[in-house]
Amino acid sequence: MKIATYQFAPKYAACKANLETLLSKSAEIQADVIIFPELAISGYNFVTKEQTSKLAVECEQLRVYEQISEIAKSQNKIIIYGCPKQQNGKLYNAAQLCFPNAKFDRFYTKTHLFYKERYAFDEGDTGFFVINYPDFDLNIGTMICYDWRFPESARTLALKGADLIVCPANLVTSIWPKVMPARAIENKIYFAVANRIGSENANGEELFFNGQSAIYDYNGTELNSANADETKAITAEINPSETRNKSFNPINDIFSDRRTKYYL
Ligand code: ACM
Repeated sequence: MKIATYQFAPKYAACKANLETLLSKSAEIQADVIIFPELAISGYNFVTKEQTSKLAVECEQLRVYEQISEIAKSQNKIIIYGCPKQQNGKLYNAAQLCFPNAKFDRFYTKTHLFYKERYAFDEGDTGFFVINYPDFDLNIGTMICYDWRFPESARTLALKGADLIVCPANLVTSIWPKVMPARAIENKIYFAVANRIGSENANGEELFFNGQSAIYDYNGTELNSANADETKAITAEINPSETRNKSFNPINDIFSDRRTKYYL
């Protein structure tokens, strides 16, 4: 199975233009799974719910959620991208997971809100979940960006059976490459980070995003990565079923060896 991340600079508050990019890259990139960055449809640097709710309404008017779902079906691909999403009277920093078969489509809403996202979104309430997609024999789960700082995010997804964890991101620090491979090793899962590039100067602050999107195997080995400032698709071959046996010698198994009564 081939997976890909697409690293680019989404245009600020320009959902129509970003939708065109997502649709054209979804068709062009030859992979079974394509991951785009956090808030790839809208841009990132928003500080009020008034701003983000307008963008969520625009996404509805443009039929963003339906159009990306439809291209996943016509291309027979799994597509994950970040978007603002209104649901049950709340406003989320979300990722839509779109599958070739519509019954698997779902939104993840970001659990841990970073910095001024606290003013622009409600805290996510889907929790971490894993979707078993039988046609690709893949168990896939997602987190979004700042969720990486909490080892519980990856651990929960792995305990729920993920073979592959994907992380749409708008990362503004440079320390995360030290951590993502560790999450892959300690959970024996594949990990794909789709970060963005560029900067956004808005609402009195300029934020810089540092690219370096990467795909790690379950030993934490980097299979492919992008530079800090390039617009680029990276791909890697993965074998999801190899993650399912959590033993690494005849005696030890990283899941059944857990001593949960000693953990908080
Ligand atoms: C982040 O969560 N966008 C850093």
